[in-house]
Amino acid sequence: KILILDFGSQLTQLIARRVREHQVYCEIHPFDVSDDFVRAFCAKGIILSGGPNSAYDAVDWRAPQAVFELGVPVLGICYGMQTMAEQLGGKVAPSGKREFGYAEVRLRNHSPLFEGIEDRRDESGRAYLEVWMSHGDAVVMLPPGFQVIAENDSTPVAAMADPERGFYGVQFHPEVTHTIKGKEILGRFVHEICGCGWDWTMPEFIPEAVARIREQVGDEEVILGLSGGVDSSVAAALIHRAIGDQLTCVFVDNGLLRLNEAQQVMATFARHLGMRVIHVDASERFLQALAGVTDPEAKRKIIGRVFVEVFQEEATKRPNARWLAQGTIYPDVIESAGSKTKKAHTIKSHHNVGGLPETLNLKLLEPLRELFKDEVRELGIALGLPHEMVYRHPFPGPGLGVRILGEVKREYAEILRQADAIFIDELRAADWYDKVSQAFAVFLPVKSVGVMGDGRTYEYVIALRAVQTQDFMTAHWAELPHALLGRVANRIINEVRGVNRVVYDISGKPPATIEWE
Ligand code: XMP
Repeated sequence: KILILDFGSQLTQLIARRVREHQVYCEIHPFDVSDDFVRAFCAKGIILSGGPNSAYDAVDWRAPQAVFELGVPVLGICYGMQTMAEQLGGKVAPSGKREFGYAEVRLRNHSPLFEGIEDRRDESGRAYLEVWMSHGDAVVMLPPGFQVIAENDSTPVAAMADPERGFYGVQFHPEVTHTIKGKEILGRFVHEICGCGWDWTMPEFIPEAVARIREQVGDEEVILGLSGGVDSSVAAALIHRAIGDQLTCVFVDNGLLRLNEAQQVMATFARHLGMRVIHVDASERFLQALAGVTDPEAKRKIIGRVFVEVFQEEATKRPNARWLAQGTIYPDVIESAGSKTKKAHTIKSHHNVGGLPETLNLKLLEPLRELFKDEVRELGIALGLPHEMVYRHPFPGPGLGVRILGEVKREYAEILRQADAIFIDELRAADWYDKVSQAFAVFLPVKSVGVMGDGRTYEYVIALRAVQTQDFMTAHWAELPHALLGRVANRIINEVRGVNRVVYDISGKPPATIEWE
């Protein structure tokens, strides 16, 4: 396995995902772990991530010295290369020219890292790579033992190596797709240089995970809050594979789900997979608690609170349960890990409805803790979950509660459910569903005037939202074909009572958010 030390770059998770795409297991840990931790990790190689600091003055943003003493290969990326240079006796300084974006680098001094990798050659036979740079500092003096392995005019040390010790540094970012051969470079590092095998795959993960769950749980009972989302669904299927009927799932219908969602969840899990699923229809209770409440954050808190109450009541009906299973995935684990590299910044509370309190007195079972979202999806497929469920767009915990602007009413939820189903239906029919990251309808509780036949109408507005994004932190509105939008609008206005106008949201994030509340 590979150890990735995080110096606070936004791209660190991408490094990990690229490494895992090469079927090599890796973990991200903050850079300020101890020397003992680094030794005990038993990595076959270490990657130092980028970060926002300057290596010449951030004296406390250093890799543990053990990194360079273990005798395993080390790859420093951007800041990671700079701190490597400083720590091994080289020098870093502000480079007169900031480099940001695409750049081309010339390869020099044949190195194992770039062997067989190039994007083009010039007439004199020199090889070039197209890379993505983002830096204002540069290595200006190599540490002893190193040589330059890539350069260009603005960055004379675009990559450096001491192949003898297996130390490599790249100033550019091989983890982003803009660096065309980036994935291959990381592949050479983990396979050829570190000697890792190709053993991290989801089909191979299943028996390992099953054994681990059995050992952890023994013959005790487990409960799990099943939401119908990817993470809890895959966690449920995996745990069921391990312990069968020792698992009980609780599916809470809060009245804010999509059309036929409860039926679909019951069909898949209870009937198709034969799992024990308790279906709790608590819609009335949620709607009552939400009556008269218009503030988005207050709505989120109420929905979260009522969910916990309902779940807790169900849990007490199973007094033998000792474990609470959750679909926590790796990005949640990394994000909540306390370290210098993390800063809190809340725009929305993103109340995770799965977050249950300690008062339940249950031990936590989180079998997806090491997995990224794409791995969770692969695992779901390997476990036999339907493709539509595993590749479904994300759906927020508070559900339609944050897509009905202002006060939530049953009547509004009914209208929104139908409009949303039509939108999704048409997206699938036009092969657009998988091309957008998230799409949904929003209910606007304002009325506008329309005309139908000879009569005047005065009805509600539905907004359509479809976005494309990598990470949901920033997003573009999807340029859906006008004909498709036209069909959706027509169908909604004709088929959904109470709506006479449909609009399309063309705001990016930022400044807008994806959800309207
Ligand atoms: P925003 O609206 O912040 O959404 O751009 C980014 C992503 O997060 C989802 N989202 C939520 N998920 N509870 C959740 O579990 C929430 O309260 C919540 N609010 C937004 C949103 O659907 C999008 O995928």
